[in-house]
Amino acid sequence: MKYLDSLFSLKGRGALVTGAARGNGLAIAEALLKAGAAVVLADVLAPELGRVVARLKRAGLKAHARAADVTNPDERAELVRFAERATGHVDILVNNAGITLPHAAMDYPEAHWERTYQVNLKAPFELSRLAARAMARRRRGVILNITSLNAELAFPDNPAYMACKGALKQLTKSMALDFGARGIRVNSIGPGYFRTAMTNGSWGDPARRAARAARTALGRWGRPEDLAGAVIFLASDAASYVTGQDLYVDGGWLIKGL
Ligand SMILES: NC(=O)c1ccc[n+]([C@@H]2O[C@H](COP(=O)([O-])OP(=O)(O)OC[C@H]3O[C@@H](n4cnc5c(N)ncnc54)[C@H](OP(=O)(O)O)[C@@H]3O)[C@@H](O)[C@H]2O)c1
Repeated sequence: MKYLDSLFSLKGRGALVTGAARGNGLAIAEALLKAGAAVVLADVLAPELGRVVARLKRAGLKAHARAADVTNPDERAELVRFAERATGHVDILVNNAGITLPHAAMDYPEAHWERTYQVNLKAPFELSRLAARAMARRRRGVILNITSLNAELAFPDNPAYMACKGALKQLTKSMALDFGARGIRVNSIGPGYFRTAMTNGSWGDPARRAARAARTALGRWGRPEDLAGAVIFLASDAASYVTGQDLYVDGGWLIKGL
């Protein structure tokens, strides 16, 4: 047990998770807390954050919360400063906050493109730079970018999401190379179809719900808790020599031909 603890434990580590008031981000934050990390949950949804932190407290998990819009440069800087103060040191940054703005590609609104770019690609880069400066001083850090099947596959009428997730996958490799000599590992986790607010539409439609499940090898949708193992592995010393990689947690969606 001691061996496993030393490999996977996140005791003494500090973590910051964006988009953590619900869905995948909340499950990621909860996994990091249970593995022993001190965690700051950040989101635009301030009231939701308050409720979540109170619920976690009742479950014996002490979390910190900070309302922040990751597209706002001042709020980003303040968020990283807050997380450094609250946890002592941000050793783990999870760039999870993301939005999807589907629309017919031929008439795709420029504002949708710009907003998706700001949230899904620019914010992860800017937050990573801010966090990496402090990580570099300590010569230790982990950045996890939450991508998607859409870093690999095109789904219809959502060009900005496709482009940004593909770019985030490549940015992961770029940062892994540029930050690696300072002891910072950067990897991506690509969820398949997970039941969250983002996928309410297809979950609510019986035909689309069944089609998504049938598209996987495991025959079911992902649950946010399914991300826990991948997150703890990549955040911990168990992955001490793993960087620049993409780990898909997709029930086998990407490997299914027929
Ligand atoms: N669900 C899936 O099947 C799936 C599949 C592949 C990848 N992903 C990725 O997983 C991540 C989490 O998605 P999810 O499904 O958990 O979605 P979700 O339930 O909508 O959660 C995303 C959270 O991020 C917040 N957020 C959005 N913009 C933000 C901003 N500018 N600053 C701070 N927080 C912001 C959202 O708040 P608002 O609601 O106010 O915007 C929301 O609380 C995303 O990167 C998504 O692309 C999800």
